Amino acid sequence: MGSTSIWQADTAFQDFPKLQESKKTEVCIVGAGLTGITAAYLLSKQGMKVILLEADHVLSGVTGHTSAKITAQHGLIYSELIETIGKEKARKYYQAMQETMEFIKNEITENHIDCNFEEQDAFLYTDDASYLSQLEKEFEAYKSLNIPGELSSEMPLQIPSKQALKMPRQAQFHPLKYLQFMLDEAIKNGTEVYEQTVAMKLEYNRQKAVITKDDHRVSCDYLIAATHFPYIDHQGLYFAKMYADQSYIVSGKWSGEYPGGMYINVENPTRSIRTATLNNKDVYLLVGGENHRSGENMDEKLCYDNLKVFAKEQFELTDISYQWSAQDFTTLDKMPYIGPITDDDPSIFVATGYRKWGMTNGTLAAKIISDTILEKEENPYKDLFSPARFASKPMLKNLFNFNMEVATELLKGKLSFPSSKEIEELELDEAAITTIKGARVGLYKDKEENVYALDTTCTHLGCEVNWNSADKTWDCPCHGSRYHYNGDVMAGPAKEPLRKVSLDD
Ligand code: FES
Repeated sequence: MGSTSIWQADTAFQDFPKLQESKKTEVCIVGAGLTGITAAYLLSKQGMKVILLEADHVLSGVTGHTSAKITAQHGLIYSELIETIGKEKARKYYQAMQETMEFIKNEITENHIDCNFEEQDAFLYTDDASYLSQLEKEFEAYKSLNIPGELSSEMPLQIPSKQALKMPRQAQFHPLKYLQFMLDEAIKNGTEVYEQTVAMKLEYNRQKAVITKDDHRVSCDYLIAATHFPYIDHQGLYFAKMYADQSYIVSGKWSGEYPGGMYINVENPTRSIRTATLNNKDVYLLVGGENHRSGENMDEKLCYDNLKVFAKEQFELTDISYQWSAQDFTTLDKMPYIGPITDDDPSIFVATGYRKWGMTNGTLAAKIISDTILEKEENPYKDLFSPARFASKPMLKNLFNFNMEVATELLKGKLSFPSSKEIEELELDEAAITTIKGARVGLYKDKEENVYALDTTCTHLGCEVNWNSADKTWDCPCHGSRYHYNGDVMAGPAKEPLRKVSLDD
């Protein structure tokens, strides 16, 4: 994950202990992000015994690095969904998002959560004439699905744009302040939270049990894998059914006139814009984008620089005090996988593939899964988002394409030996890939002159990792695993660290 986000800098969470013994509970949730915390809140409110495990710190992952738009406008999705899954299901997708937004709003209102919640119109815009027809098609989809919207050649924000599609009355907030409330309530209701506790596998005896890296067991009736990428696969082949994308945000205090609205363009490079008020007085402008497939051999610093140039040119924003990145997964049909991990076991749940729309998709996941566990009246959206949903033709085509790309990466990585550099030539805070005894080795020299040498073979399925110069991580282009420069796993599907290479002799 990238550097500290504006939300993390503004919110201090208490530290939670590491799990030091084996435990028993009704629900074990792995992953303390928005989905995990919301599920803990909903389940514990109904009297269920919950244990929440987090490999790092609470909300240190994707939720802490979001742009925090609460919207049903998920890019050019509705015209595509009508084509791939049909009008009825596309409408249901919208309803699910709409109801999720209402849920968030009601929680905030009823509980007086001070989280800078603001209603805002959302805009999809383009300044590229070749995308006009796609925006028009999306607007037609809105009309056929009865989604409120307006297509116009103008939008409130004065940046270059040829056309914009407005979805009125969406929202934005401070995600960590909102989740602070949910977490506090879950704890009041008896939820136990453990940090620095890495879930490694799942075991079955009489009861299923999550086994941690330190070999403690959390026996449970239900397991929710809310870890961004499911920490167990259970033959669900999730790594083959999603790809990972990296995106970036820069932000700084801003005194310009902002006309309101949350904006995102439809062409490349992506540009996403919103404001956020911190300390109830300082207005920050957030400019995001530069999305690319994770682990691509990109210059990540350049991604930040491009956003800074855009922020300066369009808004005269020069004082950038925060920059951060996030990784997210896209599924075969662009809808999240929410529900039982496989048909065989209805008590193990996954929630993943939010495609950068984690505020709505993550909350929806927590709702669907907790409704299922609580055996509430059947959640109307359970089947639509089920990971076992029918694989349509476009999904199968994407499955083939995703895995062809993985195969290409695998081969490319084995055949290429880029930028060979000797250890002595490395500058401080620099990385390079070299060969040692015929093997591809990733080197990084930190600011204290310590050199880390790692076998660049990803421990998931063997692709070659690439250096991410902005985040100082080794990223895998195949399924998005990320490793610290010392080799430790920061994000799965990999579970084992990169192999250390000895530099002696
Ligand atoms: Fe699958 Fe690296 S994440 S091979």
